[in-house]
Amino acid sequence: MSEFKPRVKERRVDTKMVPLPSDVIVPERDVSETPVLECRHLGIDFGGLRAVQDFNLTVGHTEIAGLIGPNGAGKTTVFNLLTKVYQPTRGIIMLDGNDTAGMSVPKVNQAGIARTFQNIRLFSRLSVEDNVRIGLHNQIKCSMFDGILRTPRYFKSEKEMHERSLALLDVFDMADQANEVSGSLPYGAQRRLEIVRALATNPKLLLLDEPAAGMNPSETSDLMDNILKIRDKFQIAVMLIEHDMDLVMGICEGIAVLNYGKIIAKGTPEEIQNNPEVIEAYLGKQVEKPARTQADEAAEAVAPTDGQGEE
Ligand SMILES: Nc1ncnc2c1ncn2[C@@H]1O[C@H](COP(=O)(O)OP(=O)(O)OP(=O)(O)O)[C@@H](O)[C@H]1O
Ligand SMILES: [Mg+2]
Repeated sequence: MSEFKPRVKERRVDTKMVPLPSDVIVPERDVSETPVLECRHLGIDFGGLRAVQDFNLTVGHTEIAGLIGPNGAGKTTVFNLLTKVYQPTRGIIMLDGNDTAGMSVPKVNQAGIARTFQNIRLFSRLSVEDNVRIGLHNQIKCSMFDGILRTPRYFKSEKEMHERSLALLDVFDMADQANEVSGSLPYGAQRRLEIVRALATNPKLLLLDEPAAGMNPSETSDLMDNILKIRDKFQIAVMLIEHDMDLVMGICEGIAVLNYGKIIAKGTPEEIQNNPEVIEAYLGKQVEKPARTQADEAAEAVAPTDGQGEE
């Protein structure tokens, strides 16, 4: 079971969350915009297993949202539903006010949802830049014939792709690694490259599945700054799944807690940290000790302390 560490080392954001009429909260700055994501009664069954049920969540236009919960709670399954890896058994997913029902994985990516995976999925033999270019491919403005005939449009788009790749890599100070083979990068850098590749698809909502997994504290701290930087620079929403509570509590504005496929709590980091149901979900039920009586204390005082004398 994941450790729940409610004490936060450093809180980097101080967002005022305000309620919308529909009983959800979003950052104050996003109130006048359509929420980037609205899930209503979302659910999926795998045979008899209700992996996600009655999942209701709203994410503001530029919100950094957290989805947390113990192992097996259904967090990655929610990302798989949002990105159409799985089609929901029930419910609705609205992206920037549009229903995504029936969309395929590439279609929903074009519509504005990009993700990274719990286990790194890079094209490890390709260069760092080529991995980013794959993310950019939707935005190429030249045809196969331009490529074959090497038209001016081809050279123009090649130059543009190169420049955009470097600019995106620069967000994570990785532009000077553009020609390296991505599989040879250290683990933390590969995780960052995955985020850059997802960003290259020009999302409105970036989903990060355990972005800090395997990172050391200093890399995690840099990652927190970079997630904030991405949100500010690109004005997009970020939703992240993470077990590192310093990261979650440090940068998330709204947090939802999933347990056995159901949301058991939603709120600000402060509300979540103090929610008894959340603490119980992470740590298990706290067994209350019966009050000690004078008779207990007297019995303890005369009892052998090292086990000797016991039968
Ligand atoms: N394709 C599938 N078929 C059957 N069961 C599945 C499938 N995908 C997920 N599950 C089940 O759904 C439940 C939720 O899994 P999920 O991977 O979403 O959990 P999680 O919250 O991401 O956990 P972790 O923190 O360990 O990554 C688990 O019981 C898992 O075994
Ligand atoms: Mg998972």
